[in-house]
Amino acid sequence: MNFDDQAKTFETRTGLSETTCQGIVKTALALAKIQPGDRIVEVGAGTGQIGQWFAPESVHYLGFDLSAPMLEEFRQHLDTPQENVHLVQGDANQHWPVEDSTANLIFSSRTLHLLNLEQVVQESWRIAQAERAVVLMGTVQRQKNSVKNQMRDKMQSLLAQKTLQGRQKNQLLRQLIERFTQSGASVIEPVIASRWKVVNTPRQSLESWRGKANLAGMELSEELKQDVLDRLEIWAQEKFGELDQPIESEETYRLQGVRLN
Ligand SMILES: C[S@@+](CC[C@H](N)C(=O)[O-])C[C@H]1O[C@@H](n2cnc3c(N)ncnc32)[C@H](O)[C@@H]1O
Repeated sequence: MNFDDQAKTFETRTGLSETTCQGIVKTALALAKIQPGDRIVEVGAGTGQIGQWFAPESVHYLGFDLSAPMLEEFRQHLDTPQENVHLVQGDANQHWPVEDSTANLIFSSRTLHLLNLEQVVQESWRIAQAERAVVLMGTVQRQKNSVKNQMRDKMQSLLAQKTLQGRQKNQLLRQLIERFTQSGASVIEPVIASRWKVVNTPRQSLESWRGKANLAGMELSEELKQDVLDRLEIWAQEKFGELDQPIESEETYRLQGVRLN
């Protein structure tokens, strides 16, 4: 999936608050027992919404991402170029742009579903420092009955009639952790780094999907996309009464992963 066209709007569309992002970084540093001078690698660093908060810490941070426009947004977040921050364009499904045995924390947020799991496991072991290395994956968890989840589930089931089912993120995470443990890693218990309330309407989900080039990570013809969203709109109208009905729910940001060394 290509994020180049989403770079400018990514944070407003999927945004986490500044306090949440700072909290995620603090929790990740504590979980990985990061010390001054340690090396952190972020896979799929994106616009640096989270990654930028590693910059003020006494660590070396390398963030890489497939999308140059996303990294350009990241650079805009840094007031001046920071000596301890390196941003590199690179494909996580190929050889990672990181030296062997150097990373103490390998962090990835909201990106795992876009990656090849075998490559993540293999490259994480290659770049992990021999004495101390942790892999942490961050995901936003929504309540099952949140309006966003219900809209997404229905959209995916409408889509599944014609294309493949959207990939399930939590299932992928479980698979990744299993592969790491099979290769000798130990599990770190999941931690909620932040929780917050959101108020969403069904119309917001519909509009955000109408404005995107693809649905559920799949590139679709404009005709098929319109068809799915039109049928979703009819379903939502019946389900929620009206499309502008504000519905409150809780979201959390969960960090989980493994200790490699
Ligand atoms: C949903 S965004 C998450 C960005 C950031 N980690 C965050 O949580 O704000 C996914 C990011 O993964 C990047 N990405 C997708 N496939 C990738 C790949 N094969 N290698 C590296 N980055 C990739 C995208 O360009 C995008 O910036």
